[in-house]
Amino acid sequence: MNITVRQIELNDVTGFHNALSSVAAEKKYLLTVEPPPLDRVHDFVSKNVEQNHAQYVAVAGDSVVGWADIVPASRQSMEHVGRLGMGVIAEYRGRGIGDQLLKDAIAHAWRQGLKRLELEVFADNKAAINLYRKHSYQVEGVKRYARYLDDAYQDVVIMAQYRV
Ligand SMILES: CC(C)(COP(=O)(O)OP(=O)(O)OC[C@H]1O[C@@H](n2cnc3c(N)ncnc32)[C@H](O)[C@@H]1OP(=O)(O)O)[C@@H](O)C(=O)NCCC(=O)NCCS
Repeated sequence: MNITVRQIELNDVTGFHNALSSVAAEKKYLLTVEPPPLDRVHDFVSKNVEQNHAQYVAVAGDSVVGWADIVPASRQSMEHVGRLGMGVIAEYRGRGIGDQLLKDAIAHAWRQGLKRLELEVFADNKAAINLYRKHSYQVEGVKRYARYLDDAYQDVVIMAQYRV
């Protein structure tokens, strides 16, 4: 099936929420294991659309199968920092979708004037770390034993790139 990567629109909210819920339910990759409530996702997307923030979706037919967002921090003096969130639902991985989503989101974030792009990723998520390195993120540090879930600890890697 043809996959389109494009900027998110308001009518993608439910599809985005479904994709987020599907990846969160895997519990391995996202900091959140429960998807946020639909109304919070709606508010997040509305703000991104209104303010032209970098949020992209991959769409197959009627379904959102992946997303990437780089949204500026709201805290005063940190508005130049954009934090990445992304995922591709399991059945669609390994086909270049994450690559395209991240490429578009990063280009948009720089165009918007962001100066520092950062992210946190679990140390055992090699696919994501490779993807981030490929797109110029560098490791800044590791938070040891940062998450404890289902009887196991996971380290969290902090990665960033900047243009100042
Ligand atoms: C990480 C993720 C977004 C990658 O998306 P994807 O569509 O599967 O990735 P792509 O097919 O576009 O691959 C792009 C690059 O990612 C890396 N990569 C992807 N899958 C990989 C794998 N299984 N092993 C190692 N590297 C991998 C490679 O660098 C690859 O580039 P290459 O093909 O030139 O080697 C996807 O695996 C995913 O959604 N994982 C679960 C959610 C998640 O981890 N989100 C990020 C949380 S921080």
